Amino acid sequence: MRIFLHILAISPALWLMWQGWLLYDFQDNMLTANPIKYIHHYTGEWAIRFILLGLAISPLRHIMKWPHIIKYRRMIGLYGFFYVVLHLVNFVALDYYFDWAIILKEIIKRPAITFGMAAAVLLLPLALTSTKGWIRRLGKNWRRLHRVIYVIASLAMIHNFMMVKADILVPLIPLTILILLLGYRLAPKPGFSYTRA
Ligand code: HEM
Repeated sequence: MRIFLHILAISPALWLMWQGWLLYDFQDNMLTANPIKYIHHYTGEWAIRFILLGLAISPLRHIMKWPHIIKYRRMIGLYGFFYVVLHLVNFVALDYYFDWAIILKEIIKRPAITFGMAAAVLLLPLALTSTKGWIRRLGKNWRRLHRVIYVIASLAMIHNFMMVKADILVPLIPLTILILLLGYRLAPKPGFSYTRA
């Protein structure tokens, strides 16, 4: 099962690499006339999907009564981080050619980028502390720290709304899912005690 999930989760990145190779080799590809923009959208959307999927694990476990699903949450969260890293690498390397002065200016001057960057920076400690050793070392504080994911998901939604130029309805879909997932956590659940939300 785990291997199957890894294959599923890595396939969008492999597909993107394949399309990049076709472009490099002057062959027909799906990266459109503006490949950097396309990669921004593609990696950003996959990042949001994995972040939401990670947040959906706990409600799914309770609603569907799938206790074992929880063991895949860390993996899903880390894939979210992986797609954020790809998104950031595209920005830093392909969009701005490592021109750190301009990159810094963009992060400070463009609120949309500021929100995205804040989400990415906050995601880093969560990814770093996702190992069993850190879970043990941090104890109760691990759960407290990992609640930051709600802030990260909200920042990512704001970033998405500010970035979208054409169809404003598109980011409404992940936003609605996020509201439902957060709402589920806040809703009273009679007779249920949260142990690993
Ligand atoms: C958790 C972190 C992040 C998530 C989930 C995320 C997600 C997204 C999504 C979904 C889009 C597509 C918006 C659309 O449909 O037009 C997007 C666009 C974009 N993101 Fe992010 N993003 C994140 C962090 C960042 C960071 C750290 C940067 C750069 C420092 C960044 C730079 C951009 C840029 C430049 C675009 C617009 C591309 C264009 O339209 O040309 N993002 N992001």
